[in-house]
Amino acid sequence: MKALQISQFGSSEQLQYTELPKPELNQGQVLVKNAAAGVNPIDWKTCAGGGAAPFIGDLPFIPGWEFAGTVEEIADDVTEFKVGDEVFGFINFPERAGCFAEYIAAPADQISLRPKELPTEAAAGLALAGLTAWQALFDKGQLQASKQVVVLAGAGGVGHLAVQLAKWMGARVVTTASPENHAFLKELGADLVIDYRSENLTDHIHNVDLVIDGVGGEVGIDALRCVKPGGTLVTLPSVTKDEVIAAGKQMKVVVEPIRVEPNAEQLDRLAGLYADRKLSLLLAETFPLKDAGKAFDLSKTGKVKGKLVLTV
Ligand SMILES: NC(=O)c1ccc[n+]([C@@H]2O[C@H](COP(=O)([O-])OP(=O)(O)OC[C@H]3O[C@@H](n4cnc5c(N)ncnc54)[C@H](OP(=O)(O)O)[C@@H]3O)[C@@H](O)[C@H]2O)c1
Repeated sequence: MKALQISQFGSSEQLQYTELPKPELNQGQVLVKNAAAGVNPIDWKTCAGGGAAPFIGDLPFIPGWEFAGTVEEIADDVTEFKVGDEVFGFINFPERAGCFAEYIAAPADQISLRPKELPTEAAAGLALAGLTAWQALFDKGQLQASKQVVVLAGAGGVGHLAVQLAKWMGARVVTTASPENHAFLKELGADLVIDYRSENLTDHIHNVDLVIDGVGGEVGIDALRCVKPGGTLVTLPSVTKDEVIAAGKQMKVVVEPIRVEPNAEQLDRLAGLYADRKLSLLLAETFPLKDAGKAFDLSKTGKVKGKLVLTV
């Protein structure tokens, strides 16, 4: 099969488009003929030796944790899927998953059926960012209707889904973005969009119940000032989590770090919301698998609006 792999850590130049054997099918797994794979910051961070690199074992390494494709074979103990099913998922994280390849051996209990209303490329980009948004808002953040939430980096992969999910829950949603993305975020349901480049959050909002921090570092620390006493900030970038947690302690704000987990039940909920037109996914750009390096370079700019997806 065709696949992308790295044999040493580094920049996108390390990605090699190559021919490899199909993965072995083990108990509890389905073999998926892959159609599309989502690209996330964790992919290039891990290929550079950061991110999930401590969990992936020895190189070479095929990056990619989310996909959409067709079930081609099932292990004999798998009963919930059949050959020909259209599926999507976020798998094995933070260990290796190998989704930047033509075939994937996927744990059956971490994937979901793709409803016909959810296009293949959108499905491939929905799982990781959608589960992150869901788990940050509802599992870590315990968000409920009529509460106020701030989503930092609303235009990004996680952010644009978090804005919609928070709105669906009935919360008041404030988000931050560059001016060119304000209309987009209003259309997604944001009640207030703040230009983080020229405005301070605390000039606009105080006493919020929850912040979803998709930026981290000084930006996350600064946002602690608008959280009400006893409120929560969920910080996504793991590399700065310790400094945000330490600042939260001083300010009596609970800071929750997160590591997104595979969850088929939550994937079903996300797919259902998409099928019911309560959730949409913006495809920023798609690239053929062999051009993943271009997608990595774009993701590294920190300017992607929505999601990047590779077609296989
Ligand atoms: N811990 C976990 O399990 C987990 C899971 C998923 C993601 N993450 C991390 O969470 C972060 C966000 O992920 P993502 O996939 O959403 O990233 P992304 O799609 O690459 O985010 C890009 C967006 O960030 C916005 N942005 C950049 N700097 C900003 C700032 N100072 N204030 C507000 N917005 C800013 C940009 O908005 P404008 O163009 O409007 O400026 C752009 O739309 C990454 O660090 C990622 O690694 C962690």
